[in-house]
Amino acid sequence: MREKQISLTVKVYDSPDELRADEKELIEEARQAMDKSYSPYSNFRVGSAALLANGATLSAANQENASYPVCVCAEVALLSACSSVYPGVAISKIAITTRGGSQPSDSPKAPCGQCRQTLLEFENRGGKNIEIILTGDKGAIYKLASVKDLLPLHFSGADL
Ligand code: THU
Repeated sequence: MREKQISLTVKVYDSPDELRADEKELIEEARQAMDKSYSPYSNFRVGSAALLANGATLSAANQENASYPVCVCAEVALLSACSSVYPGVAISKIAITTRGGSQPSDSPKAPCGQCRQTLLEFENRGGKNIEIILTGDKGAIYKLASVKDLLPLHFSGADL
């Protein structure tokens, strides 16, 4: 038996002012997208925004359904929009923000497993790492260099 260490680095920022201007703008877009969340069942709002390699940005929010499994996560909605509007264009960065209930959220929340798997597919499709920025309304901001940091032991098309 031997142990294999898998490590990940999360960059933690205490203020958006520590980020690059384009990253601050991306967070702002994700926050604005969160206002378009349709989440009457969970009351949990998620907003996401992507910066693509061609300089364009797109954003999306979670869209719920009375039949709960039909709910669409913000990240999945965003990725579908990216490949529908800009097919073949890689994604450089994605900002994700959340707010549960009516109180401002003060910590970053990580995407669910399905979103991580979908993000991984897009990272591999694009052939370049997608930086992931996670934030609440305030508090610390996390930045990961790759989707693989969210899904260290992953399954992908390369395994088929
Ligand atoms: N949700 C997302 O949009 N992204 C995630 O990564 C986790 C969960 C949404 C789905 C649902 O509308 C609400 O958050 C509560 O699960």
